[in-house]
Parts: sequence; C-alpha cells; structure tokens
Amino acid sequence: MKLSRRRFLGLSAAGLLAGPTLYRPVLADGTRRLKLVLGNEQRQWFAPTGEPVALWGFDRDVLRLRQGEPVEIEVENRLPQPSSVHWHGLRVENAMDGVTGLTQAPIEPGERFFYRFTPQDAGTFWAHSHHRTYEQLARGLYLPLIVDEPELYPVDRDLVLALDDWRLNNERQLHTESFGDMHEWAHGGRTGNLLTANRQLKPAFEVRAGERVRLRLVNTANARIMLVELPSIPTWIIAKDGQPLAEPQPLSEPLVLAPAERYDVVVDIPVQASGSYKIRDVGQDEAAELASLRVAGQTEHRWFSAPAALPANPLPELGSAEPQHRLQLDMTGGAMGTLRKAVYQGETLGVQELIQKHQIWAFNGIANMPEQPMLDVKRGDLVEIEILNNTRWPHGMHLHGHHFKADLARYPKGIWHDTLAMAGGERSTIRFRADNPGSWLLHCHMIEHQAAGMVTWIRVAT
Ligand code: C2O
Ligand code: CU
Repeated sequence: MKLSRRRFLGLSAAGLLAGPTLYRPVLADGTRRLKLVLGNEQRQWFAPTGEPVALWGFDRDVLRLRQGEPVEIEVENRLPQPSSVHWHGLRVENAMDGVTGLTQAPIEPGERFFYRFTPQDAGTFWAHSHHRTYEQLARGLYLPLIVDEPELYPVDRDLVLALDDWRLNNERQLHTESFGDMHEWAHGGRTGNLLTANRQLKPAFEVRAGERVRLRLVNTANARIMLVELPSIPTWIIAKDGQPLAEPQPLSEPLVLAPAERYDVVVDIPVQASGSYKIRDVGQDEAAELASLRVAGQTEHRWFSAPAALPANPLPELGSAEPQHRLQLDMTGGAMGTLRKAVYQGETLGVQELIQKHQIWAFNGIANMPEQPMLDVKRGDLVEIEILNNTRWPHGMHLHGHHFKADLARYPKGIWHDTLAMAGGERSTIRFRADNPGSWLLHCHMIEHQAAGMVTWIRVAT
C-alpha cells in the first residue's frame, strides 16, 4: 500500500448504528417487502441561524438486507425528474440493475418501480440513482446498503460512514449552476466545499474504551477521491467493495477511497482510551475532519486476538486458466490529454465538436455509450481487460454485476473489487468471470467523467 497516494490527488482541482430495522411484512414465499421513496430532503446544517439546505434523498438513512433473503423493494419517485435506483456492487439480475437506457426505463415522477432480487453477498454496498447521475448523485440521491451476514460478526459496534462532499453557493444552498460544467467534466469532476459523514457535519460516534468497532467506509461523492486517515489505534481491513479479505490486513496508513469504493475496517479502541479520535480526509491541502469516535466509559470484556476473517461470499472461481477473452481498454481524453477525435453516437468528431456535445473522454476511441457492446461473451467465460489510463487524471473504474481482481500492488493481495482506483498513467489488468447474463456497464465512477464519455458496456449471453 505504498505507491504515492498523493498521485491520486495531484491534479485534483449521524452515525447509523447497527440496530434492528423495522421490516414490513414478509410475503408467503419468504420475500421481504420494503418501500423506498425518492423525494425532497432538508438538512439543518446551519441551524439554528441558517436556512435548511434543500437536497434530494431516500426516506431512510440506511438500508439493511440479509444475505440470501429475497426482497421486493417498491421505489416511488416523488421528485420532479425521472430517476432509477442502482444497487451498487450487488450481483443482481440484469433487469434489476437500475441503469436507465440499458436495463430499464426511467421511473417517471409520481411513478413506481418494483425491484426484486436476493442479495447473494453479505457486505457493505450502496444504492444510488443511475439517471442523470452527475446531477442526482450531487443532489444526494444515495443510500448506504448493508447486507448482513447470517451469523453476527463479533464486534461491539457496527458503524456506517457514508462520506460525501457537497457544493454550496453563497446562500448555502446546492450550487446547481455547476451541474454540467464542462471545465470540471474535463478535469477532476465536480467536487464540493462541505464534507459530511452520513449527511451530518462531523458527527461524533460514542464508543467505549476496550471496544472493537466495525467501520464501513463508503465514498458517495461524485468525484472527490478521499484519503481517509483513521485514528492511530489497532486497525485491520476486513473487506473491500463488499467482499471479505481472506485474511484481515493491518492498516497503518491513510486509505485511498475513490468515489464508490468501500472498505470495512475493524478498529480496537484502547483500554486506556479517553477523549476523542478523529477520522479525517487528508487528501486536500488542509486536512478536514469527517467524523470522530468519542470515548465514553469502558467495556467489561477484552479483545485479545486480531479480528477473524469474514466468511467468504459465493463468488465464482477465477482460477489461473487462460481467459476466453483478452482485450485492452485505452482511456484517453480530459484536460492536458492527447484526444484529438473520437466516435460519438456513431460519428467521428473532432475535439471542438465533442466539447459542444459535452464529451471529452473516450474508451478505445469511443466517447460515451457505443451502440454495440465493447465485448460479447458467453455465460461463464473468463475475461481479462488490460486497462490503460492514458490520461493525466485518476479514475475509478466500476464494473456492474460482477466483482473482479486486479493486479495493482497498492491493494492487499487477492482482493476483490467492483470499483478500482487508478492513478494518472497507471495500467492494470482486471480478471473476472462473466457469470451474470445481461448488459452491464463498465464506467468511471467519477461521475462527470462517465457523463463526458467514460462509459461502455459488455454483454453476457444467457
Ligand atoms: Cu455506482 Cu454505474 O454505478
Ligand atoms: Cu474518471
């Protein structure tokens, strides 16, 4: 985990306790029914003197599901725009993936859509809009999603930290004029000027001395790559992007957390602890507090050994066989890049024309969604894609419907990803088994980059 974390940032311009959730009735076939409403939200960030900040959001703070338990989630759209919900990192049936224009029609204002799936994997995920995402995600349309292991993992406390940045204007409302700002789309994306954890300003989570705490870190920002500095106390990574590490890995340095990446870490609060421990983003010139752990009281018990590994999820075997498909994905474009022309909606356009169409990035010379998938495979095929970041910018590559392995030494060995942070100029080969039939996006999760061209798709035949 040594490679300069700063490389990622060089060019860059209330605690949710794991408590019981109130569930709605279970259907006769064992399906649990839930309802989520997309609507307006007000945040009292500047109370008592300031006006509430108007956002969009889901009508709950966190969604908890259980591994292997089928759910039917009714999503009602009470927003003035069409929308959709993507279950980021969950390996769901393609029709439930929530990608408008590819797997479903947008949910119109006043309409509803029923998402039905069974979470195969336990872990830390998130749900977010996948329609006009550059605007809807920035307005707050996301929700941390936890799939609980059937057996409780032994910790004293389980906290979610959904980390975000918001851009507010002088009136301390969302800066909406910058949605679609081409300058930002060509650079590091649209970043904010106010950091939150769980949509709160610097929340303090109460812990007790001697406790073992599971922290689930989720980067829900549009474009900000965070460098999350945890307190200097014993810490282990136990999962990345929802998938357990075979062995918990001790952590003593700040964690690079690109948009959409997640880490589950375990921290042991020292027995003699007192006061409060800060969790900070140290990726900017000035370190910024995100949240803190405030010590109040003592546990009676002690944790003597390092945390155990989480049980593995039922992911397909990758093995070491020759892949059926091997290809390159050449990422180009952006400010200070070499992109001169690209194909956009079937037409070859020069840079000026591309910019007029709000495009400035390309995968293999194609800006935005191609008519035909980048790759057609049979179900069960092994795929290797060598991703070349031939741009000056970092990117976070996300594959829908599958988890993959990559070969970057910066990450713990053997780790699974659904999102991979890549520094400018970096290359990495990802390997996955295409076992989920349907049409799946592969895109940069720095959402302005996706909107400005960094998106393609693969098709897995049934
Ligand atoms: Cu988190 Cu294509 O999405
Ligand atoms: Cu990108």
